Amino acid sequence: NNKQISNICCIGAGYVGGPTMAMIAQKCPHIKVTVVDLNEQRIADWNDADLDKLPIYEPGLADVVAEARNRNLFFSTEVDQAIADAQMIFISVNTPTKTYGVGKGMAADLKYIELCARQIARVAKDDKIIVEKSTLPVRTAEALSTILNSTGNGVEFDILSSPEFLAEGTAINDLQVPDRVLIGGKDTERGKAAMQALVDVYANWVPLENILTTRVWSSELSKLTANAFLAQRVSSINAISALCEKTGADVDEISRAIGADSRIGSKFLKASVGFGGSCFQKDILNLVYLCQHFNLPEVAAYWEQVIKMNDYQKHRFAKNIIDKLFNTVSGKKIAFLGWAFKKDTNDTRESAAIYVADELLQDRAEIHIYDPKVTKEQIIKDICHCEEERRGNLPESETTKELLKRVTIHSTPYAAMENAHAIAILTEWDEFKTYDWQKVYSEMLKPAFVFDGRNIADKEELTTVGFDVYNIGKGK
Ligand code: UDX
Ligand code: UDX
Ligand code: ADP
Repeated sequence: NNKQISNICCIGAGYVGGPTMAMIAQKCPHIKVTVVDLNEQRIADWNDADLDKLPIYEPGLADVVAEARNRNLFFSTEVDQAIADAQMIFISVNTPTKTYGVGKGMAADLKYIELCARQIARVAKDDKIIVEKSTLPVRTAEALSTILNSTGNGVEFDILSSPEFLAEGTAINDLQVPDRVLIGGKDTERGKAAMQALVDVYANWVPLENILTTRVWSSELSKLTANAFLAQRVSSINAISALCEKTGADVDEISRAIGADSRIGSKFLKASVGFGGSCFQKDILNLVYLCQHFNLPEVAAYWEQVIKMNDYQKHRFAKNIIDKLFNTVSGKKIAFLGWAFKKDTNDTRESAAIYVADELLQDRAEIHIYDPKVTKEQIIKDICHCEEERRGNLPESETTKELLKRVTIHSTPYAAMENAHAIAILTEWDEFKTYDWQKVYSEMLKPAFVFDGRNIADKEELTTVGFDVYNIGKGK
């Protein structure tokens, strides 16, 4: 007598909630899916008839939204109504790192989650299954359960943890054919029934053998562990890239050689200017905080090193630009190709580009930025935010204004590169490989430098054209 789910609500219409619900709606026409958010602009954008206006850029997403929207997929700001109507509620709100108080800079800030829980507790009139989709520290489900089940009004909540493993830029494919779907629940009759209800939703398109059920804590910790392992691979290959640059080995050759070992595997071994994105750093900091909390300082230090190595890599890239430009970039024009934290997304959270720009701006460079998908407003916001953080969250001041005078954002790549002293490639957008480098070279100052933070440019071609090319992990 399993509960057949016919009405789902998702709180949070961001990079996780939006695409995930669009996919569920597309695959399950019999389920009404309502995505709610407090942010009215965001909801308006999701509802925009012009699909180019969707708030997030993700290849293939517009087609999925076009098919399901206003059929069984709805975007709304009526949070209470959607909660009241739903049998199953996904929580996909943001969980940034705390910027204040206990656990500042490390622990996840659960205030948005807590607000959701209190809102659900207030509004719900019948039993509901609550699914945590945001990445949360272990035992959040317990906290959720405490808040939800303290209303004393007889309504019961079953809490599941079902972390989302989609990566941005490939979200639609990751949702369509996931390596696995993970569902954590309680080992009780009710817990099992709740898990089954969610299994049944996914079973509409995911083979049963790819749907794993575990205990809640294992599910929560699996998500942190998966991201920590992935980030660790990037930091590991980046650590080797530094050694390659000193010794003349080629890190891409090393990646190929070690990736051929099936125990290591070939994916996620691309040396780069450093990883970014909303998850890796946040989740590792979370893991570190947990380890410290449980008095495991050696384990905490082990994982913290992954972040330190990433910071080092970003710094190394910026410093190399300054070094090679004769030890100063003051007044020099540096063209940035890419601002997003990876290709095929307009997301810039924790993007290495922000860090590199900051370091070059501190050395008084002039930065000219081009990214195919990131808006001008977002780039300005990122630069201001970074500057304010450095100065301890002081309100916008003269220094920020001064800084922005040295930042120009372009809508075409060639304009960004014209008269530049150097080009820095920060994101691996495919279109960067297609440029007319002869033309770019002829319009740049000489010597013309290229710092390829993604190893995507054809080094031989560029060198033949006349560029002075520096890569990640390739000795000169
Ligand atoms: C290793 C490399 O695997 C091999 O490619 C290289 O040529 C020599 O070094 P070896 O030391 O013979 O081979 O054995 P391996 O299977 O790698 O195990 C090494 C150690 O790691 C063992 O003590 C093993 O028990 C341990 N191990 C391995 C684990 O604890 N967990 C694992 O998942 C795998
Ligand atoms: C990650 C996880 O992959 C995903 O499973 C989880 O749900 C969310 O976090 P995401 O941050 O969207 O996804 O992108 P991902 O492809 O993992 O890339 C993260 C960062 O690592 C990017 O900045 C990327 O450029 C960098 N990276 C990745 C490398 O530098 N080298 C690699 O080989 C892979
Ligand atoms: P993620 O990458 O985890 O999806 P985002 O920041 O892209 O994170 O999306 C989270 C969304 O959740 C934001 O649009 C934010 O406005 C929304 N949100 C946060 N708290 C609430 C809440 N209490 N009710 C509704 N929406 C919320």
